[in-house]
Amino acid sequence: MSTTAINGKEIFDLLRDDIVAIEEQFGQDTVSNVAAITEIGEYLRAGGGKRIRPALLLLSAKLLGYKGAGAVKLASVVEIIHTATLVHDDIIDEAEIRRGRPAANTQWGNSKCVLAGDWLYMQAFKIAVQERNFRILDVLTELTQQMVEGELLQMEKLGRPISVAEYLDLIYRKTACLFSVCMRVGGILGGATVQQEERLGQYGRDLGMAFQIVDDVLDLTASESVLGKPVASDLREGKATMAVIHALERCTGTERVQIEAVLRDRAFNGVTHADILTILSRYGSLEYATGEAARYAESARQAICVFPDSEIKRALLWAPEFVVAREK
Ligand code: IPE
Ligand code: IPE
Ligand code: MG
Ligand code: MG
Repeated sequence: MSTTAINGKEIFDLLRDDIVAIEEQFGQDTVSNVAAITEIGEYLRAGGGKRIRPALLLLSAKLLGYKGAGAVKLASVVEIIHTATLVHDDIIDEAEIRRGRPAANTQWGNSKCVLAGDWLYMQAFKIAVQERNFRILDVLTELTQQMVEGELLQMEKLGRPISVAEYLDLIYRKTACLFSVCMRVGGILGGATVQQEERLGQYGRDLGMAFQIVDDVLDLTASESVLGKPVASDLREGKATMAVIHALERCTGTERVQIEAVLRDRAFNGVTHADILTILSRYGSLEYATGEAARYAESARQAICVFPDSEIKRALLWAPEFVVAREK
């Protein structure tokens, strides 16, 4: 394995030209005659971000040997959709920090950001239409609805414990579905068979599940300076995530009362973030959640084992490790 393994830098080298092209495309795609939209778009683009979704789309297209210009365009499309969801998500979550800087809503206010998010969604579709591919449009439309439904369902479940099944459904909709779509769109461009597209989609879904479980663990364990967004925000937003659900299923009555109070109050009144972490450590809940993420990551790797060996495949086999080990 060591001779064939690939690391993050090598993947970056592999995709460097395309990533530059995507940044350019994204910059061109988010220009409007209305200055506020261009400013918000530019602010978000300049804020960086891991660009993991466009990278997946590119890798998937390349795995299938696709050489056309559509991959860069659609990679920009998925990053624009992601950006739109973040703009709306930060308004909904009343978040103040994103990508290590003030969230757009704190700079432009909620009203302008709602509209900028809407504009970004439609801009993404406008560019996608240029591909003249109904399958791709179909997949992207379905995806956008899933994501919006996910945010809405999540809102309805705030402030109270939820089941693991409810949690998994939420994170599929809000995160894993987009990862899956990135892989499938890459596959569709590359002329994947139904089975191949299914495999690619499964890889994306499992990777996305791992990604969001880790996001939720980091929300509990990381520092804001490393993460670039507020920590313990899920608890403060009344969101029960995997580690918390795990602890709730095992803890004492008193501990349950403490966790439920934070979720219900959406604030740390008399119960601190550290108190919650102590409870989670007592039941090994953070390790459990990380272990579940690792399980999804392994399942993602399995999903693409049927493809012939290549540098691109090795990059895709590496990504799940990165997702589980990441610190931001
Ligand atoms: C943030 O996604 C939203 C989640 C699904 C957790 P990323 O962690 O990919 O955000 P950026 O694009 O790198 O900032
Ligand atoms: C991910 O949910 C949001 C979307 C994909 C829309 P979170 O609310 O957990 O994301 P962060 O933590 O704000 O990035
Ligand atoms: Mg949020
Ligand atoms: Mg989060």
